[in-house]
Amino acid sequence: MQLSTKHLLGIKGLLPSDIQLILDTATQFKEVLQRPIKKVPTLRDVTIVNLFFENSTRTRISFELAEKRLSADTINFTASASSVTKGESLLDTVNNILSMKVDMVVMRHSASGAPHFLSQHIPAAIVNAGDGINEHPTQALLDAFSIREKLGSLEGKKIAIIGDIMHSRVALSNIYLLKKMGAEIMVAGPPTLIPVYIKEALGVQVEYNLKKALEWCDVANVLRIQLERQNQVLFSSLREYSLAYGINKKILDDLNKEIIIMHPGPINRGVELSSDAADSKQSIILQQVENGVAIRMAVLYLLAGGKAEAN
Ligand code: NCD
Repeated sequence: MQLSTKHLLGIKGLLPSDIQLILDTATQFKEVLQRPIKKVPTLRDVTIVNLFFENSTRTRISFELAEKRLSADTINFTASASSVTKGESLLDTVNNILSMKVDMVVMRHSASGAPHFLSQHIPAAIVNAGDGINEHPTQALLDAFSIREKLGSLEGKKIAIIGDIMHSRVALSNIYLLKKMGAEIMVAGPPTLIPVYIKEALGVQVEYNLKKALEWCDVANVLRIQLERQNQVLFSSLREYSLAYGINKKILDDLNKEIIIMHPGPINRGVELSSDAADSKQSIILQQVENGVAIRMAVLYLLAGGKAEAN
């Protein structure tokens, strides 16, 4: 089985069968990661560059670990410590790296569409590790994997995505993926943080009342307020946001069923999620991080396989 695509630029361009293949392959890699020897020789002789033009903790470490577990050679690039600060263009930077015989590019960039642009100009396979407010495909894949692991399937499951929908690439990739896999999706948050067209354009339900959203869903995927992407005042204060949309253990206990709490990280504790909710047994936040490595191994393995056959 092979992916229908050479790059992983977003979930939007994937077929449901691609998503299924990635999730199933990740299940096998997760099993490898439970063994005493977690390393497999699969990507020996494949060289991967991790190009991070934006801050990252989890995603970057997760990709790096996935590459190491697959025995790939890796190099890490941090924009702030590079010649980008001397005025070099994105394309020049990447072409210089590729001329040193690099096979794959994992890339995070603050400009939406940056990996799509690169994919039209370079021969290497590209994995989007987050582009601006557009997509974060491996996050959506690991979220789906974690839901499937917990609930058995995605089909018909009710997922509420709560918070700053407007500026979140995690929200958009999750919506595309869950829709393709037959889940029901609701977005919830203050009206100023939810795009007005989202209901018609993406076929999701919209809810402005936190309690109603939580009562409806099986899973709440809670997002951070992306203050770094907001250049106007969209709500009065973080304190007020927290009062209206912050989730704590008391709110969860008052529901008539036990829902699952997810968060892509980084959590702003006390804003969107209190510590007693984030650390409760309903939370699968650390399982999400664990599953991220298996998902990224699956993506890299499948894209490298496609490349080998194409050549
Ligand atoms: C997210 C991101 O960078 O888009 N984090 C992540 O990759 N785990 C979400 C965020 O920054 O809030």
